[in-house]
Amino acid sequence: MENASRNLESPSEPKNSFLLDDTKYRPSPQAFQCGEILEEAGEVGSVVFFSTTPNHRLEFSCRGRSVGVLNDQEPVVSNEELEEATAAVDPFFFDKGYTLAGRTGFQIWAGARLVLESLIWPLDQDPPRLVHWQRRLQETAPCRIIELGSGVGLLGASFAAQGGEVLATDLPTLVENAIYPNQQRNKNNAPSSPCPEWLAASSTVPIGSGWLGSTALDWTKPVQEQLSEIQRHNLDLIVASDCVWLVSMLDALLDTVASLFHFSPNATFLMSFQRRDVRKESALFTTVDGILSAVRCRGWALDCLSWKYVKVDGDEEKKEVFLLEIRRDESSS
Ligand SMILES: C[S@@+](CC[C@H](N)C(=O)[O-])C[C@H]1O[C@@H](n2cnc3c(N)ncnc32)[C@H](O)[C@@H]1O
Repeated sequence: MENASRNLESPSEPKNSFLLDDTKYRPSPQAFQCGEILEEAGEVGSVVFFSTTPNHRLEFSCRGRSVGVLNDQEPVVSNEELEEATAAVDPFFFDKGYTLAGRTGFQIWAGARLVLESLIWPLDQDPPRLVHWQRRLQETAPCRIIELGSGVGLLGASFAAQGGEVLATDLPTLVENAIYPNQQRNKNNAPSSPCPEWLAASSTVPIGSGWLGSTALDWTKPVQEQLSEIQRHNLDLIVASDCVWLVSMLDALLDTVASLFHFSPNATFLMSFQRRDVRKESALFTTVDGILSAVRCRGWALDCLSWKYVKVDGDEEKKEVFLLEIRRDESSS
């Protein structure tokens, strides 16, 4: 998927030099491990994705293969193996609010790996803002995190394993059939602390030294109708990986972030995004420039914390995936 060495000669069209800053390029940390294997009768589907934090190995039952996540040396499930093991009919097809976008949540995407590696596996070269968040996740005062569009819950569970207090959210179908079974799969039976009050009503389980709750949060509906007061206040971090690939998802997600900024004015939003537009501006797919202008239109500040190349099956070119830090400026309140 990615050369170990930096290659800026590679793919594509107009480079955004602001984002493609050499000093933010981030290869995979050597100690990080991940891969996928086939499992008959898994809780969610037939693929098990595994990944590591410095102290834990986590597993996620998925309905599909990961996309652009694994490199050639890492174990993968082939399309043929998966086809044999998986029912052809999507059992959630008729669920209310379950769309094509929801279907993508049953597998793991490239942006999730970049967020996980960048925040949990420090490298010497990391820029100060990234180091800030790596340290914040390690502090004794737990980091209060809400994840949007969690899918199978990889990021939420990984931050919890590191000591974070995390509320993983997604469409109801995903919460019930993907996040919840994976919370159960990874839970630790001997918690070292009581469940935090703000997560008490969210099917919360202990994972590693932290806690992971889950609840439905649809970006097309008002936040205050879906999250309780205690769930939406005092957040430190809002996280979303690979959630705005369709233009229709971008505004809805940013509206949700705007509401969360309103209730938690000190929160910061960390978002990963994989470039998908190749030769021309696409009306359907979100472009990198589309994100920059949507964020700036809202008066928010944006910085790139890390980026790397990924190669997705079927794509001719490697594409960049970015980890962006988005903050509400004092002036944009
Ligand atoms: C491409 S998947 C990314 C999943 C996961 N974050 C990852 O990186 O592996 C997009 C996610 O956004 C969620 N999603 C799409 N539309 C949504 C909406 N209106 N409200 C909440 N979540 C939504 C999907 O259910 C899915 O889990």
